[in-house]
Amino acid sequence: MRKTRISMLLLCIAGAAAMLAPVCMRVREAAAAQRKSTVPSPHWIDGGCKICHEGDGAAHRAIAPEAVDDLCLKCHDGAKAAAEFHPVHRKFEETASIAKPNGWPVVNGLLACATCHDIRYPCDPKKNPAALNRNFLRDYSLRRTQGQPFCQNCHIEKAYRKINPHEMLLDRAAPVHAQPQAASGPATQPATLPADAMVLAGGREIIEEKCLFCHTKPLDRNALKRTEKSFLKTDQATLCRDCHPRHKDPMMQSHLGLALKPEMLALMYVREQMGLAGAPSATILDQVAKAGLRPKMMVAAAGNTVVCSTCHNPHQNGVFPATSDLDYRSMRYNRQQKLVSPVHEQVWCRQCHSM
Ligand code: HEC
Ligand code: HEC
Ligand code: HEC
Ligand code: HEC
Ligand code: HEC
Ligand code: HEC
Ligand code: HEC
Ligand code: HEC
Repeated sequence: MRKTRISMLLLCIAGAAAMLAPVCMRVREAAAAQRKSTVPSPHWIDGGCKICHEGDGAAHRAIAPEAVDDLCLKCHDGAKAAAEFHPVHRKFEETASIAKPNGWPVVNGLLACATCHDIRYPCDPKKNPAALNRNFLRDYSLRRTQGQPFCQNCHIEKAYRKINPHEMLLDRAAPVHAQPQAASGPATQPATLPADAMVLAGGREIIEEKCLFCHTKPLDRNALKRTEKSFLKTDQATLCRDCHPRHKDPMMQSHLGLALKPEMLALMYVREQMGLAGAPSATILDQVAKAGLRPKMMVAAAGNTVVCSTCHNPHQNGVFPATSDLDYRSMRYNRQQKLVSPVHEQVWCRQCHSM
């Protein structure tokens, strides 16, 4: 079971997302099933109608547009049931960066649940099966991949000059304070240099404002190890989701908060040492687990739970010394000159899963 689900997900990740969307959605359902909601879902079930429509038997009482959001939020508060990450109740008008698709409703000029969700769709599950549009999104087609294309119904892509905080290095070499050099120091450095003189080091200068997108104060780029005090502006889920409200691969997002068990921590530790090729022997894993060795580079949050930065290093390669724990799997430019996270290859799942 475990194996088949993993290979199914690998297919989803492998890219043919459009063709495989139905498969991926089933996986998403499985993920949703694992999540603990404390209220029953009224959607797509026979007896569900009366949970939303105050019951008059067969005649379903209409629900006023102004009452809809309150109805949804009664359950979708992030605790009783999943919360929506997109802002609601913002003004929805045409601007240079926002388009209004035809027929998408607003409530008093504001963005509402029904703006994106076609609430009438699941009211007739026989005509509109869940499998074709599980989240009952408007103008939705399975041929379209989830995520970006749906967003572009309203967000005009070209109008966005995205601030990319991950691009943290200038094309300029970094000025550094000259250190009194030991005999092994660079030969090019004149011995007569005053101790506080600025010289050009090999590394590139960092853009400190970029660091301050995420950190409340500048941190040491020469750090070789973590102190586990990262002075983040807010918790990671909020910080990252401000700019990345949705994950292309929903299953990866649903990894958030899962606990890394001792066997997995042992595997992660070994992978950090040996890389992703080959398979470590059960004996080694056993020994590592017994010794309580833990990964130092792909770190978990409190309680050994998965956060965004367990999988992604949000820092650009070159910010930290190559020997730093913090440089592990940092972001690099690919051939298209896009700064990417080195997680896109399938084999990468082997960091944590033996497969
Ligand atoms: C999650 C809550 C919810 C569930 C469950 C639900 N509905 Fe609805 N339904 C609504 C909302 C909200 C509207 C109003 C949508 C609008 O204004 O576009 C609506 C509208 C309707 C309407 C149109 C009413 C009118 O006069 O405008 C009918 C008919 C209907 N639903 C039938 C059903 C049936 C049958 C079921 C069960 C299979 C069902 N609904 C389940 C929330 C729900
Ligand atoms: C009685 C509680 C309740 C109400 C009211 C409710 N939902 Fe849900 N909804 C759930 C639960 C429970 C789930 C499934 C588990 C989860 O996501 O936590 C769910 C799932 C969903 C999903 C994902 C599709 C799926 O079937 O898993 C969407 C989209 C959704 N709800 C939107 C809405 C909208 C929009 C409204 C308002 C019209 C609404 N819900 C009203 C409880 C509710
Ligand atoms: C701007 C568009 C937009 C608005 C407004 C919006 N949603 Fe969504 N919602 C989406 C999209 C897109 C998805 C599907 C995400 C995906 O497949 O990853 C979604 C998915 C969901 C889900 C399923 C989440 C999950 O993790 O399974 C729920 C529940 C939900 N929305 C509830 C709501 C509620 C409640 C409101 C109103 C408070 C709302 N949404 C308003 C776009 C929107
Ligand atoms: C129905 C149209 C619509 C759709 C579809 C839509 N958005 Fe939005 N989005 C808006 C509006 C309107 C705002 C509010 C803009 C404002 O306040 O200037 C907004 C705001 C945002 C913001 C907050 C920006 C800020 O300044 O705080 C983010 C992030 C965002 N959308 C991302 C997305 C993503 C990702 C998707 C796809 C899952 C999406 N949106 C789909 C209409 C939409
Ligand atoms: C996109 C958000 C983001 C940006 C931008 C960012 N960081 Fe970080 N940083 C994080 C997160 C998240 C962590 C915690 C996770 C970890 O330790 O890997 C972290 C951890 C660190 C740590 C380790 C703290 C410790 O001792 O445990 C250092 C040092 C650091 N960052 C330096 C920098 C510097 C220098 C810059 C600018 C060149 C920068 N960061 C830019 C998100 C960011
Ligand atoms: C369990 C590991 C894991 C976790 C946790 C995780 N991701 Fe990812 N992420 C991935 C993988 C794998 C991919 C590559 C998917 C692909 O290539 O299709 C990816 C892709 C991405 C991308 C690029 C594609 C896209 O969706 O736009 C972004 C941005 C991203 N993740 C941000 C985040 C943020 C923000 C969080 C926390 C909210 C997070 N990730 C949590 C594994 C993870
Ligand atoms: C200020 C907005 C902002 C914040 C905050 C932010 N990011 Fe990003 N991120 C971007 C932009 C812009 C890109 C460039 C890719 C794009 O155009 O979507 C990007 C790219 C990425 C990618 C590479 C996508 C790929 O294709 O490989 C990952 C992974 C990622 N971010 C993870 C994170 C994580 C984890 C955090 C939180 C620690 C975070 N981001 C916080 C704006 C942001
Ligand atoms: C940072 C470590 C980490 C990475 C990387 C990671 N996972 Fe996971 N994954 C977990 C944890 C923790 C669980 C929770 C279940 C467990 O402990 O076995 C989990 C569970 C799963 C499950 C559910 C298994 C089940 O039997 O219920 C699937 C499927 C899955 N991961 C797929 C993937 C895929 C595909 C990738 C690569 C794209 C990946 N994971 C990368 C940590 C990770």
